[in-house]
Amino acid sequence: MSHQTVIVLDFGGQYNQLIARRVRECGVYCEVKSYKTPLAELRAMDPIGVIFTGGPNSVYEPNSPKADPGVFDLGVPVLGICYGCQFMAHTLGGAVTAAQDDSAREYGKTETFYDTGCTLFQGLPQTGISWMSHGDYMAKVPDGFSLVAHSAACPNVAIADESRKFYGVQFHPEVNHTENGLAMLRNFLYGACGAVGDWTMGDYKNASIAAIREKVGGGKVLLALSGGVDSSVAAALLAEAVGPQLTCVFVDHGLMRLNEGDEVEEAFSKWDLNFVRVNAEDLFLSKLAGVEDPERKRKIIGEEFIRAFEREAKKIGQVDFLVQGTIYPDVIESGLGDAAVIKSHHNVGGLPDYVDFKEIIEPLRLLFKDEVRQLGRELGLPEYLVMRQPFPGPGLAIRVIGEVTKPKLDTLRLADFIFRDEIAKAGLEQSMNQYFAVLTNLRSVGVMGDGRTYDCTLALRAVTTADFMTADWARIPYDVLETVSTRIVNEVPGVNRIVYDITSKPPATVEWE
Ligand code: XMP
Repeated sequence: MSHQTVIVLDFGGQYNQLIARRVRECGVYCEVKSYKTPLAELRAMDPIGVIFTGGPNSVYEPNSPKADPGVFDLGVPVLGICYGCQFMAHTLGGAVTAAQDDSAREYGKTETFYDTGCTLFQGLPQTGISWMSHGDYMAKVPDGFSLVAHSAACPNVAIADESRKFYGVQFHPEVNHTENGLAMLRNFLYGACGAVGDWTMGDYKNASIAAIREKVGGGKVLLALSGGVDSSVAAALLAEAVGPQLTCVFVDHGLMRLNEGDEVEEAFSKWDLNFVRVNAEDLFLSKLAGVEDPERKRKIIGEEFIRAFEREAKKIGQVDFLVQGTIYPDVIESGLGDAAVIKSHHNVGGLPDYVDFKEIIEPLRLLFKDEVRQLGRELGLPEYLVMRQPFPGPGLAIRVIGEVTKPKLDTLRLADFIFRDEIAKAGLEQSMNQYFAVLTNLRSVGVMGDGRTYDCTLALRAVTTADFMTADWARIPYDVLETVSTRIVNEVPGVNRIVYDITSKPPATVEWE
């Protein structure tokens, strides 16, 4: 498998992986390398272009990160972003200084004027918003470069030497806030580097499978499958790579949504792997009996989950590799890429402490959520699994207010299914980030037929959010709410009232418990 390669040379910028992701989005293979990578190694990769990332330093500081200047002699186009642009200017004979007054320092959304004669900006509007984040200023542009973009505060927002195909931008084309930023990167890749677009998620899948096979050899692999998107895609990838050596442990705590456990099991039946479904409903419900406090519920579930997993792991004996479905947004990186301190967030809290294994495999750690979904499709996972909305580890236990019992869970499951079904029928699935039903512990009087009822109140919750730290309640059309309400009170025994939660986060949280 040979592909055109672009090198993203990392100077410690917070957007290094986002740049890589944008390049992949353009259908071009790329690798993120530390700025310290020896020139010979970069040359051996035979790149069609190099992109310098931003970084927190100032290039005129003595210890600021500097790549081997030979990178400019590789004979390929170079795009410098932010610090990368300043490194280019500094190295090729320009001058970069701290901005003398506040007006030349730019942060945030800035109206920018582009020279559309430049390869980078060809075919784009002459003005647009760009996302700036720089406190330094290019006091002297290197010989051979011309100014190709400016803003009200800054005359040299972008520089270009078309003869050598060197480009530098002070703003961040990779972030969504920069209008046409992706088109600029595409112009660099296709207009300057001569990319042909020979990279797809199918290639990514194949390369990952090959790498996993090489790493795992004949070893045993263990994976805790929750049924969420990330662990499912990680499992599918491992199944494709080393199926018979893989054991997926799926602890069904009985707190899943309607049919969820069977759907997960069914999706993995096509692979030859050891799929262990631990049916632990009775165990979990007995531990939860009489417990009303939300935090206690969470603790009990978390602990029982680990115990159940641990029991299965013990049966397998020595495990060589533990797989985690960590994805890029879960990975917090600090430092300068090469010696980065990486903290990864564990999808199932604390698991590695309880299981004896040699190494962790995190096959999704460079992917963003939508890329993970795309990979899942490539692997043949069904759409309902790939597009699944986030679902909390404690499951429906934190959506049954008060004590959790099987009849209450069954009531909630059915109502939740109807809500999701109607949202799908109305074509609203993609307009919300999470939506579900909550069974309150409130009962109220109603009238059905000629009789009085005294039944449960069910709440509907639906939110839109970028990161789940804050959220807004979704403006679901009244007629959709009406259909949901009518269906639930007619089809779900024991529910006679439906309310819609119109609280944002903060002050409320997404979940009720
Ligand atoms: P809150 O209720 O904190 O929810 O606003 C934000 C997001 O986190 C999910 N959530 C959890 N996920 N274990 C999880 O794996 C949990 O204990 C948990 N609690 C909340 C929630 O569904 C929402 O997506």
